[in-house]
Parts: sequence; C-alpha cells; structure tokens
Amino acid sequence: MLNLENYKAEKPFNQEHLICLQDYSKDEIYQVLSLALKLKDMKKMNIPHPILKGKTLAMIFTKSSTRTRVSFEVGIHQLGGYGLFLSSDDIQIGRGETIEDTAKVLSRYVDGIMIRTYEQSDVAALAEHGTVPVINGLTDSFHPCQILADLLTIYEAKRQLSGLKLAYIGDGNNVANSLIIGCTKVGMDIAVGCPKGYEPNNTVINMGIENSKISGCSITITNSPIDAIKDADVVYTDVWASMGQEEEKNIRDEIFSSYQVNKKLFSCAKSDAIFLHCLPAYRGKEVTADIIDGPNSLVFDEAENRLHVQKAVMVLLMQERRI
Ligand code: CP
Ligand code: NVA
Repeated sequence: MLNLENYKAEKPFNQEHLICLQDYSKDEIYQVLSLALKLKDMKKMNIPHPILKGKTLAMIFTKSSTRTRVSFEVGIHQLGGYGLFLSSDDIQIGRGETIEDTAKVLSRYVDGIMIRTYEQSDVAALAEHGTVPVINGLTDSFHPCQILADLLTIYEAKRQLSGLKLAYIGDGNNVANSLIIGCTKVGMDIAVGCPKGYEPNNTVINMGIENSKISGCSITITNSPIDAIKDADVVYTDVWASMGQEEEKNIRDEIFSSYQVNKKLFSCAKSDAIFLHCLPAYRGKEVTADIIDGPNSLVFDEAENRLHVQKAVMVLLMQERRI
C-alpha cells in the first residue's frame, strides 16, 4: 500500500531541473509528492517553513497564466524567498535577446528560473546555458507541474496511484502528454480518447509504452471516448484549443463536440470516479457545468495542490545549489 505521508526514498533525489517528468524516476516523483504533503500540512497548521530564505525565483512568462503565476509567487514567498515576475512583454527576450544570454545573465542574479513558454527546446536551452535550476511551467509539449499536482490530488482521494485507471478525454495536448508520462511512471493505467489526428505525440506515446513495461500498467490511445472512459477511476479533460491555437477554436469546437465530458459520458466511468481538469475550463465545451461543479469534481483541490507540489519542487531543486 502506498504511504506517501511516510515515504522513505529509495535513492537521494538526483535532479537539477524539472524540464520533463520523463527525467524523473518513480521514487523521485514520490519524494516530491511526499514533501508536498508535509509542506501542505505545515501551511494548514500555520507553521512557518522558510526553507528557501533569501533565495530568488525568476518567473518568465511568454503566455498567460493564473494558477502557475500565483502559486509559484505565493509558494516562493511562503518558503521565505522572493519571486520575480518577468513578462516577455517587458524583458528583452520579447525583443529578440537569446535564451542563451538570458540564461547566463539571470543565473548571475537568481537561484532558480521558472518558465512558461511555447517551445520545449527553449526550456532545455535555459537549463543548458544557465547555472541554476530550471522549472517548466508549461510548454506546447509538456506541463509537468500540473501532473504532479494531479497525482497528489488523486492520491489524496484514492490513497493509491498504481492500479487506478485515468481516462483523458479530448485533445492530445501538453497536459495529455505529461499525463501519459506521469501515469505510466507511477503505474496508473491511462486511456486517451481523442479525435483522429489529435492524438498525443508519438514520441511521448512510445515513452509511455516503455514506462508501462517497467511499472506494469497499460496505455491505450483510442478515438472512442466511451472506450477510453469505461471503468475509469479518474476522468480528466482539458481545453480543446490550447494557448497559441486560438485561430483553430471554431473548427476544434466542431471536431471535439462528441468528446465533451457530460453526465452521459461520465456515467460510463466507475461510480466513485473523480473528475479533474487543469483549468481554465470552458463550461459547455469540453465539460458540462453539472460535472465540473458536481460532487465528483476535485478541480479546486487540484488547483490548490499546484502550490504544494511546486513548493516541494523548489525545495528539492533550490535548497542547495548543486549545479
Ligand atoms: N493549469 C494551469 O496551468 O493554469 P494557468 O494557465 O492559469 O497557470
Ligand atoms: N492545454 C492548455 C493548458 C492550460 C493550463 C494550454 O496549453 O493552453
């Protein structure tokens, strides 16, 4: 039985960055979740925990955000540090300064960099050319912080991870890609139900297949939302048009209409299935209000857990500067 409250690490945490969850072992993912639970408890009990006193996190955003921005800024503050919000509209990256130079310059000032942007390769380049930990706050390809929060939420609700089935219904996007990696790392069956042509990235599916062989779970990609959701313990969806795909919105609304998570579809999952959504959500599009605002929905616990897991990630990566 998984006991993340008292999790004993198998090996020392050995990551310098959080660029993609594929770089993390199951043991390292559990270490993040376990520390997140401890930090969550301390916050609820009003116990100060200034573990990163005096440290500064630069937060670069080239896309919009509510949860990621606020949870990182509040999180570093609760840890005794300082969060520096850097919008690409204001810094020189927006005028063409290279990622390489930005990485080298910021590394002289700050103790960690969180970035939300388009290209996954830009996150990797920041890590390669800088000398401080880099955290991926979402790219077109991945959203690892989100999936850590999702796994924590699932664990809190079900007291287990491996042996459960998660059904992701909708676009094979950054969140779907990271869910495939996260679920298959921890041994959760994952089924993705998406329209033809909107499947998750093939390289990611192959990573998931390799992970599933080690963790002993299954991975299914289907164009049938009913097949995907059948007997699921966790039902997950995300927007049909991600940031950067605004022009495709109308066509996507048509293509995805039969992938809406509504009462009828949700009834094919297990009766005690929980509903998750990374948010922001569009009621009446990818999910109906009766589901997202209904008794099985944990979307606001999930949003809160962004704070706790990211604090754990920052502590594990930034406590000692190891690069
Ligand atoms: N889920 C998520 O990342 O939300 P934001 O876009 O508001 O940061
Ligand atoms: N897939 C969405 C996630 C938002 C948190 C997007 O990239 O816009």
